[in-house]
Amino acid sequence: MARSLQDALASFRIKSKVAIAKVGVDSRRLDTLVNLPKIETWRREHVPAGTPAFDERTAMYDHVHAELIGDAAIDYLEFGVFQGDSIRHWSSLNKNPESRFFGFDSFEGLPEDWKRFDGQMVKAHFDVDGVLPDIDDDRVSFVPGWFQHTLDSFLEKFEPQGQLVVHVDSDLYSSALYVLTRLDALLVPGTIVVFDEFSSVLNEFQALDNYCSAYMREYDVLASAWHYFGHLAIRMR
Ligand SMILES: C[S@@+](CC[C@H](N)C(=O)[O-])C[C@H]1O[C@@H](n2cnc3c(N)ncnc32)[C@H](O)[C@@H]1O
Repeated sequence: MARSLQDALASFRIKSKVAIAKVGVDSRRLDTLVNLPKIETWRREHVPAGTPAFDERTAMYDHVHAELIGDAAIDYLEFGVFQGDSIRHWSSLNKNPESRFFGFDSFEGLPEDWKRFDGQMVKAHFDVDGVLPDIDDDRVSFVPGWFQHTLDSFLEKFEPQGQLVVHVDSDLYSSALYVLTRLDALLVPGTIVVFDEFSSVLNEFQALDNYCSAYMREYDVLASAWHYFGHLAIRMR
């Protein structure tokens, strides 16, 4: 191709890019719509026929616990506690006296707006004024603060024992990605990871996808709940 034609094409490409950046619509709703079909592609690649699907998340927890944990001791790390509903359920499911349940949360709500298709939960949504859930179980403890400020020092002292269960219920892409990447060394094969807002395609879904591609990790889907992969349980390979 003649040099002048190459230059003209390169210039056209750059000008088109700038024009699209300037006049295009930067819309979270549009982004969500455009990305939603990725869930179906993911389903075809990751969810074999017959994978259990439940109506309620608690039924999914009960199934995963009964099938994969039984009476064994677990370390349960929950990222996103709010008033403690899910950590309360897990600690009542697993009665092993050696089990430990750690709940991480700012207890001041979300660190940034959670932009979703159906509107927006603004920064500080889920704020409980620093009040920790009241759970009458010595095995349960809480780590208040931003994950980004608390997880490093927690991990310096943490010695894993037995089956690890990680519950990502932090809603945001940034929080979920931080947790997954920071925990990578702990997510050994067999680790169970539960997501609470998996089908929020630009958030927990994207965080898992980006984490797995950046860290070359793979997993098997154990079960899902609530419509189309609202909640998900996986096991790391
Ligand atoms: C949906 S709520 C958790 C609900 C809870 N698991 C339940 O079952 O009721 C999400 C929580 O994640 C917390 N969160 C999100 N990102 C965080 C971060 N980076 N650091 C600390 N807390 C965070 C928020 O404070 C909020 O309480």
